[in-house]
Amino acid sequence: MCSRVWFVTDRRISQEYPQVQILRALKERCADEDVEFRSLLMDQIVLTISEGQLGLRVEQELVTSYPQVVVVRVPTPWVQSDSDITVLRHLEKMGCRLINRSQAILNCVNKFWTFQELAGHGVPLPDTFSYGGHDNFRKMIDEAEPLGYPVVVKNARGHRGKAVFLARDKHHLTDLCHLIRHDTPYLFQEYVKESHGRDVRVVLVGGRVIGSMLRCSTDGRMQSNCSLGGVGMMCPLNEQGKQLAVEVSNILGMDVCGVDLLQLNDGSFVVCEANANVGFIAFDQACGMDVAGIVADYALSMLPSRLTRKMSLLSVVSSTSETSSEPEVCSVPTGGGSLPEAVCNMSVGSTSSESDPELAEPSQSSPRQSAAPNLPDLSDLPDPAYNFNTLLANEIKLLTE
Ligand SMILES: Nc1ncnc2c1ncn2[C@@H]1O[C@H](COP(=O)(O)OP(=O)(O)O)[C@@H](O)[C@H]1O
Ligand SMILES: [Mg+2]
Repeated sequence: MCSRVWFVTDRRISQEYPQVQILRALKERCADEDVEFRSLLMDQIVLTISEGQLGLRVEQELVTSYPQVVVVRVPTPWVQSDSDITVLRHLEKMGCRLINRSQAILNCVNKFWTFQELAGHGVPLPDTFSYGGHDNFRKMIDEAEPLGYPVVVKNARGHRGKAVFLARDKHHLTDLCHLIRHDTPYLFQEYVKESHGRDVRVVLVGGRVIGSMLRCSTDGRMQSNCSLGGVGMMCPLNEQGKQLAVEVSNILGMDVCGVDLLQLNDGSFVVCEANANVGFIAFDQACGMDVAGIVADYALSMLPSRLTRKMSLLSVVSSTSETSSEPEVCSVPTGGGSLPEAVCNMSVGSTSSESDPELAEPSQSSPRQSAAPNLPDLSDLPDPAYNFNTLLANEIKLLTE
């Protein structure tokens, strides 16, 4: 059977860096490995049910050869269940392996849905309240009082730090209530003061940490998003941070994701949010990485032909290791854009801490690391006073310019 990979994205984001880079990487890998490749926009796909069977049409032609793996990039905040998710469900029902799966994307569409999934798993989360019904924001001003002030308010579908704000007190919230849009619910969240203007973006592929970046706001505001002027630098992550990011990725069933973590004074982390459609322009720059290449390698590793090959290799390894006391290890290929071993690490629902220290820690040969030998270890950061953040941000700016 011929191996086929598709890349499906949305017209509105198809020209942005991550999509362009993933398309390039997939094209290259597929050409090298003799895998058929096709790139499609969401709105080119027509879903059919004929004679009781699911099918697809593209540009008025019936699709007769289906992909085994489909890499999906849809703008999470705009994802519509009745259109985008319908296409993804259709592909899944036809037997395609989606990266990310539709349920994983849905888990990140709404920030409160993400927290609903994570709750009950022992994952540290800032206390967060939300509401049903319409236009209940005003009611929440009283209901959210146990969270104290200042309180963080987020639109459940916001992104790039644009629909997040820190409300000083009750009057501030009441004033803002008249100004904000109420078409999507908001969530009210405990303010993690120690992490003001600072968070850590962890990128994971196949349930494995591929790198982490400290982000700092440059203007004293709480949101550290690079899209708002925050600056990022590669930064090592302590073991609790790595384990937490892996756990979040596994619980949400993600293949590719970005997990944002907030750090407490004792060096431990709590979850801020998870992104299914993670952006990585700043991440690639700060960490000297090629996330798109890693995603493409991972996608090809999910082809049934590769999985079968990997399974038989694993059975050889396990039968030889039966005679030795060594634990079974997953080999990580050497060289640039190393491929996370999906089969060994993608244990949805597990609390695996299989993150790879070599991949997560800054590498000796990284250009950023050699330019900045004394990068702060997050676990050693002093109390995050705002002026400290500014100093740090300025330092990062100097290093990255
Ligand atoms: N509870 C919180 N306490 C302190 N800072 C926060 C909190 N929640 C978010 N932030 C800051 O705001 C930024 C944006 O929030 P986030 O939930 O990630 O929304 P977005 O999807 O818009 O990026 C975070 O990266 C972090 O810097
Ligand atoms: Mg974020």
